[in-house]
Order: sequence, then C-alpha cells, then structure tokens
Amino acid sequence: MGTILVTGGGGFIGSNLTVALVKLGHKVKVLDNFSTGSIDNLQPVLKEIELYKGDLRCLDDVRRAVAGAEVVFHQGALPSVPRSIADPLTTNAVNIEGTLNVLLASRDAGVRRVVYASSSSVYGSNEVLPKVENMSLCPMSPYAATKLAGEVYGKIFYELYSLETVGLRYFNVFGPRQNPKSEYAAAIPRFIKALLNKASPVIYGDGNQSRDFTFIDNVVQANLLSMQTCAAAGEVFNIACGKRITLNGLLEILMDITGTRVDVVYTAARPGDVKHSLAGVEKAAGVLGYCPKTDIKEGLRLTVEWFTKESGL
Ligand SMILES: NC(=O)c1ccc[n+]([C@@H]2O[C@H](COP(=O)([O-])OP(=O)(O)OC[C@H]3O[C@@H](n4cnc5c(N)ncnc54)[C@H](O)[C@@H]3O)[C@@H](O)[C@H]2O)c1
Repeated sequence: MGTILVTGGGGFIGSNLTVALVKLGHKVKVLDNFSTGSIDNLQPVLKEIELYKGDLRCLDDVRRAVAGAEVVFHQGALPSVPRSIADPLTTNAVNIEGTLNVLLASRDAGVRRVVYASSSSVYGSNEVLPKVENMSLCPMSPYAATKLAGEVYGKIFYELYSLETVGLRYFNVFGPRQNPKSEYAAAIPRFIKALLNKASPVIYGDGNQSRDFTFIDNVVQANLLSMQTCAAAGEVFNIACGKRITLNGLLEILMDITGTRVDVVYTAARPGDVKHSLAGVEKAAGVLGYCPKTDIKEGLRLTVEWFTKESGL
C-alpha cells in the first residue's frame, strides 16, 4: 500500500477520511494550514500521521507534502458560499490556485490518482431535480465557480498528462467534527449547537428549502471506492443520499432527538443559496459501487450523540 496525502486533513471531511485511512492501515500524510480546520480533529491519529503545516497557495509547501504519495485526497478549500461572496479573491486563490498547485505537484511527483472534493453547488440555478452529472451547470456564487474550475482542471490534467483524477460532488455533508462555531458554519452543526444550548436555531429563508443531506461515513466510503476503481478516472460523481428533506423537517427530527422544543427564528434568505437540491446517485452506484449506508435519521442521531459527548456544548 502506497502513501496517501490528505489535503485539508484538519477539516471536517478531511479528518474523518484521515482517521478511516489510518484505521485501514494506510500510511497517511496531511497538509493543512488550519485556517478553518483544527489540529484537534486529528487527535485520534496524530501520532500515526505525518503532518505538514503549509498553505495550498504555496507550490513549494504543496510539493513537499505530495512527494512520495501514491494517492492524493484533495479536501482542502475555503468551503463557504457566504465567505466567497464576502471575499471572492481569497476563495479563488485557495480553491483554484490551490487545486492547480495540487494537480501540478501530483503530476510532477508521479502520483497515481487525485480524488478531489467538488460540490453540489456547481449545479446552481439549474432547477431540474434530481441533479445528474451530465446536466448543464449554472454556478451562483464565487465558491461554486471555484469548485467548477477545480473540476475542469481535474479533467484537463487527466486528458493532457494522464494524471488520474476523480471529482466527487458532495451534497451537504454532516457529521462528527463539523465546526459549529465559525461565522460560516453549516446548518446542521449550528442547529445542534443551538438545541443543546436550548437556544432558538436560525433559518435563512422560510425553511422550505430542501437539501440532500449526506452523512460523513457515506462520503468517506465514496472516497475509499474512488481510490481504486479504474473506470472512475477522469469522471465526476454525485455523492449524496439520493433523498431530500426541508430545513423545517430537519429541525423537527433534531428536536425529537435532542428532546428540545424551542421557537425557530426565520431571517432573510442568503444570496447564492439554491432553493432545492437532490442528487441522483446512480452513476456513483454503477461505477464506484457506492451505496449510502447511513440514512439521514441515523446520521443525525450519531451526530447529536457525538456533539453531546465530545464537544462540550
Ligand atoms: N461540508 C460540506 O457539506 C461540503 C459540501 C460540498 C463540498 N465540500 C468540499 O469538501 C472539502 C472539505 O470541506 P469541509 O466541510 O471538511 O471543510 P473544512 O473547512 O472543515 O475543511 C477544509 C480544510 O482545508 C484547510 N484549508 C483551508 N485553506 C487552506 C490553505 N490555504 N492551505 C491549506 N489548508 C487549507 C482548512 O484549514 C480545513 O482544515 C472542501 O473542498 C469543500 O469545498 C464540502
């Protein structure tokens, strides 16, 4: 088994993937500057991994981390739509230039495969549901534009330089280690934090917007499958549950799980957010053998359990 590099390994998805890879016996390196992630996320495996504190925007940092890797899981990015609207330049630099650095360094170091994190946001204002990989893409935010650019670069590096690249379009991932504290925190950790504190959760919009929320273990499974499957090279795949739920419906489930009833605060919808999202996961099922094993209810139960025990909320 060759060495694996996880960029953004200190983040929510990257740290869960890193822990899974170490458990499977892989030699793992992590590159992160801990701008949105945290070294605490890596505590369970800190002694077993090689840690490179460095910046995706610095090609030398990226080359140092990539050296000797057989596979790269590129999870590092600034992952927020509102952040990208407030500061498109920084999001562009980290997500596009950073991805180009990872691809260049991987090509030059003889990496076999780069599996990179894309996003359902690339579908944007295309209202057709479910989203399927070959439909037209209409990004609505600088963040979505950067994720699409990453896909385009991934495809070009496969075709021009035979670097095997696989893009995974994640749909609203949630689970343990997702940060509830940042100004740009995602809905589920914010809701759980509020409910555990018996405070009112805030919904942007009327709560009828729907998402295909995806438990982290399903995303880890998709990454592990993407590392090996020959036919995946040069392709992009939706990674989701294939089911959608409204934010109001989601809060109902969370109130049941936490046993907390509080009023919900509704505020203005956020620019750049899509109204509905639902993935077709047939391509991932057919090519990768992907099968989301944990559904939304079980995922939420596990997530609340983790936040209650681990985060001291
Ligand atoms: N969480 C989701 O629902 C979701 C959905 C779609 C796509 N994604 C994508 O998945 C990936 C992981 O997202 P996440 O939710 O784990 O976010 P996260 O913020 O928890 O993780 C991102 C990691 O990248 C690191 N990073 C940021 N800028 C860096 C830089 N300049 N140099 C080195 N490291 C840097 C951060 O410190 C962090 O550890 C991202 O590429 C994101 O765009 C996430």
